[in-house]
Amino acid sequence: MDLKLRGKRALVTGSSRGIGRAIALSLADSKVDVAINYLRNRTRAEETAQEIEARGVRALVLKGNVANPDHVERIFSTIGEEWGGLDIVVSNAASGVLKPARELTMHHFDWAMHINAAALLPITQQFLKLSATEEKILVAVSSLGALRAIPNYTAVGASKAALESMVRHLAAEFAPEGMRINAVSAGTVDTDALLHFPNREELLESARARTPAGRLVHPQDVANVVVFLCTEYASMIHGQTLIIDGGYSILA
Ligand SMILES: NC(=O)c1ccc[n+]([C@@H]2O[C@H](COP(=O)([O-])OP(=O)(O)OC[C@H]3O[C@@H](n4cnc5c(N)ncnc54)[C@H](OP(=O)(O)O)[C@@H]3O)[C@@H](O)[C@H]2O)c1
Repeated sequence: MDLKLRGKRALVTGSSRGIGRAIALSLADSKVDVAINYLRNRTRAEETAQEIEARGVRALVLKGNVANPDHVERIFSTIGEEWGGLDIVVSNAASGVLKPARELTMHHFDWAMHINAAALLPITQQFLKLSATEEKILVAVSSLGALRAIPNYTAVGASKAALESMVRHLAAEFAPEGMRINAVSAGTVDTDALLHFPNREELLESARARTPAGRLVHPQDVANVVVFLCTEYASMIHGQTLIIDGGYSILA
């Protein structure tokens, strides 16, 4: 099936590793140029960029903290200078302190809110500015913690709930300007992010055991749905959060 994405230009935030990397490589497989964004680890970002170029498309490597609106502005202005515009943004970068709520400080809470939710605002504004006259696709990456109570996940879960709400509000406001915004929400995926969970092994085992589809979600499962949302086959899906969890969340 021709996904008709050839020649499009994408930015994937937090794409040096994990789920963002799988999304970036899948877009490159569909002949999309991809700008890789990262925060600290340039080596991983450059490795991903090399894999993108090996697929015959262009890559950019852009350091920047998505929680800092000046960094976001710089990322978009660099893309504008290098590529002259942008067609797709995947807002994937996330961070957060995983602790029982009793131990969370307001700094921890603000950290998660800024990176995981508030960052979508300057990202959307810069995207609108850079690609004013083109069709624009934006996909945000959320998690089941937006809807469900997960141990140690209070701050991140609340930030993902805010993110999904923002997706609905922004989708309604900017659809008339040619922007289509959706989110994907994943079940447990075994990436570096899980190394920060105090109960990682238990989390992986219980997710595996409880998932009707019989396995954990892989980064590629998430990437496949993001790519679908970027195609014209999804042109009437606006403001939704598609859940990719092998059926985990449908169980009582
Ligand atoms: N893993 C899961 O079980 C799971 C489940 C559901 C949803 N998700 C969501 O999927 C997305 C990706 O998660 P992941 O597990 O792949 O994460 P990960 O392996 O921890 O990778 C995080 C990526 O984001 C970058 N990053 C972190 N903070 C950033 C910031 N402030 N500005 C720019 N880039 C930043 C990191 O760059 P550096 O390497 O340079 O720090 C890295 O590329 C997140 O939105 C997460 O909430 C994950």
